[in-house]
Amino acid sequence: MEVIICPTPARVGEIGAAKIAQIAAGLRSDLVLGVATGSSPLATYAELARLVDAGALDVSNASAFALDEYVGIPVDHPLSYHDTIRRTVAEPLHMDLARVHVPDGSVEHLSTAGQRYEDAIRAAGGVDIQILGIGTNGHVGFNEPTSSLASRTRMKTLAPSTRADNARFFSSIDEVPHHCITQGLGTIMDARSVVLVATGASKAQAIAAVVEGPVTAMWPGSILQMHPHATIVVDEDAASALSLKDYYKKVYADLPDWQRLDV
Ligand code: GLP
Repeated sequence: MEVIICPTPARVGEIGAAKIAQIAAGLRSDLVLGVATGSSPLATYAELARLVDAGALDVSNASAFALDEYVGIPVDHPLSYHDTIRRTVAEPLHMDLARVHVPDGSVEHLSTAGQRYEDAIRAAGGVDIQILGIGTNGHVGFNEPTSSLASRTRMKTLAPSTRADNARFFSSIDEVPHHCITQGLGTIMDARSVVLVATGASKAQAIAAVVEGPVTAMWPGSILQMHPHATIVVDEDAASALSLKDYYKKVYADLPDWQRLDV
């Protein structure tokens, strides 16, 4: 697992985007992005949009697959992940909306939505670069603690701590849905590369669990230790509980120039 420790949260966005652009440069223009909601990747998306506008990145032929969606929120509701991904990713990056996919969280289609989403990802050729945030309890997508490490896209119940974390977007916690549909950990692990971004002290424990383990369903993001191409981009606060923090900095600083981004 590659760990990149940045001096500031803003730098996490810049380095996260630079890492994604670096990987994308070696891929065909019809690459497939995996995209996450939440606050963590917003700075990364803003920087990716700047790279697109500057002509340094072209995702006009790319597809995107979101990780998850709330159950029972209409797709045009501003807090739906359909609308969030359109607003924060697809439009700023000038992506073709017809190729931007979000799981179907409508109650009437829930029993088949997971399999349909898995089929759509496969039909697109699989995810090339999966962008991830992480929950304070270590969830990725909405794979809460004790999710199967081999899980596929399905309905899940949100942990009380996740509902409390996400209540800041709603007018009250009572409005936060109890259920979601999320790519599974097995689905996420199928992505060819993973770039996880996290900032702030509230993520420090989760980042330590993801990077330094053990691999356990109690910290779902720890499964990334089994991924051959996972990069974790964090600021000093999110890195603060890593026992080998100085070692990761030295390893990254000692990489050959062509491989290293200037943190
Ligand atoms: C959300 C999303 C995750 C995200 C996480 C952290 O609810 N389902 O994909 O990574 O929780 O969110 P934030 O980045 O806002 O802290």
